[in-house]
Amino acid sequence: MTEQDIDAFWMPFTPNRQFKAEPRMVVSAQGIAYRTREGHEVLDGTSGLWCVGAGHRHPRIAAAMKAQIDTLDFASNFQVGHPGAFALSERIADLAPKGLDRVFLVNSGSEACDTAMKIALAYWQAMGQGQRSLFVGRERGFHGVGFGGISVGGMTNNRRAFGGAMLRADHLRSTWDPLTQAFVRGQPQTGAEMADELETRIVSLHGASNIAAVIVEPVAGSTGLLVPPVGYLQRLREICDRHGLLLIFDEVITGFGRFGGMFAADVFGVVPDMILFAKTISNGAAPLGGVIVHRRIHDALMQGPTHLAELMHGYTCSGHPLACAAGLAMLDVLQDEGLVAQARSLAQPFEDAVHQLSELPSVVSVRNLGLAAGVELKMLDGQPGRHGAMVQAAAFDRGLLTRAPGDSVVLAPPFICTPENLRDMVERLGDAIKATARQMETHP
Ligand SMILES: Cc1ncc(COP(=O)(O)O)c(C=O)c1O
Repeated sequence: MTEQDIDAFWMPFTPNRQFKAEPRMVVSAQGIAYRTREGHEVLDGTSGLWCVGAGHRHPRIAAAMKAQIDTLDFASNFQVGHPGAFALSERIADLAPKGLDRVFLVNSGSEACDTAMKIALAYWQAMGQGQRSLFVGRERGFHGVGFGGISVGGMTNNRRAFGGAMLRADHLRSTWDPLTQAFVRGQPQTGAEMADELETRIVSLHGASNIAAVIVEPVAGSTGLLVPPVGYLQRLREICDRHGLLLIFDEVITGFGRFGGMFAADVFGVVPDMILFAKTISNGAAPLGGVIVHRRIHDALMQGPTHLAELMHGYTCSGHPLACAAGLAMLDVLQDEGLVAQARSLAQPFEDAVHQLSELPSVVSVRNLGLAAGVELKMLDGQPGRHGAMVQAAAFDRGLLTRAPGDSVVLAPPFICTPENLRDMVERLGDAIKATARQMETHP
């Protein structure tokens, strides 16, 4: 490939000019590693952006998708249906918390977020409360890149250029408290009262009767892993119940095993009214996401003339046959290979390994839960993101792919790792941090 060959592709969430000057191209993958064009192995420290829990090119998922494409390559789910979408939805409904048993399939986490927000608005309209149109998100939250998602999202850089076009939303403060949480292992024991702001400021400012829904990630991933304090999510649920607000969990990264339960709702013992999912459900092998909806919300919308669609919403590829085949196979793999339990059992060795990085002088915080961790680095000379980007590049050179939102470096390894694999990843990250510190000393 020449420089010319890589001009046309406008890469998402990537510094294009920098990448194209120095491309990092992966050409194949197997298990927990990619292989670069130059033939180097690179460990997949983020499971391909939180997707590939079962490891790359899982043979059962590949076989299911090959069989599917030879049988029914495509059918939309508008008016006709195909068995895969129904089977997958049944399986997901069976796994979801009690009461959440209707599934709207989409192709991504962003679509899942916008879909849930539209369902919430349509629900309130059906209930005769159409004035409920304000959404409550959270600072440092990420819910994808649709206009709904950026409106409730709280990542400043994702919103700045699009301000005028956003929906009405207010935001809770993030659960991150550097004074008390910098090196906490797992969930912080204090801070549940941060949820009270929903009642004391937001409900009291806007009025509960104007609020459509509250949407949060149970564990915020995209700003460097922010773990909720013990009791925080319970408190949000109680406040929502008290004021009749819908609670939506964005489980796009927490769903399907990463935190040692099928959903974070199970791990934390809090049941929302809707759950968004994507990523791990197809092991990344096909674009797939969805919204799991409480039956009462679904049923409230099943009205009007029977020849008309009850919800004017959907995507051509909602519940694509190949994606459904991948999803069904992934659920079999998670179950038959005990991968959720494996993720749970890896949490402790992973925590032990990653907290060793606390000793490095340039590390200002280490946060972890389940099979995910965020390692935050000192900001360099008022240049947010530079340190993170340097460490990410140094890690890649040492055979480890990470993600660096701002100055945090995130690890979210595949569930099929051994404890040794996890220690290896952390060691490579530690080497990258040390090498970057040395580089800064000689060329600040
Ligand atoms: C919590 C959360 N919600 C939504 C999304 C958006 O998903 P997608 O990139 O599939 O649109 C992401 C992506 O990382 C996410 O982490």
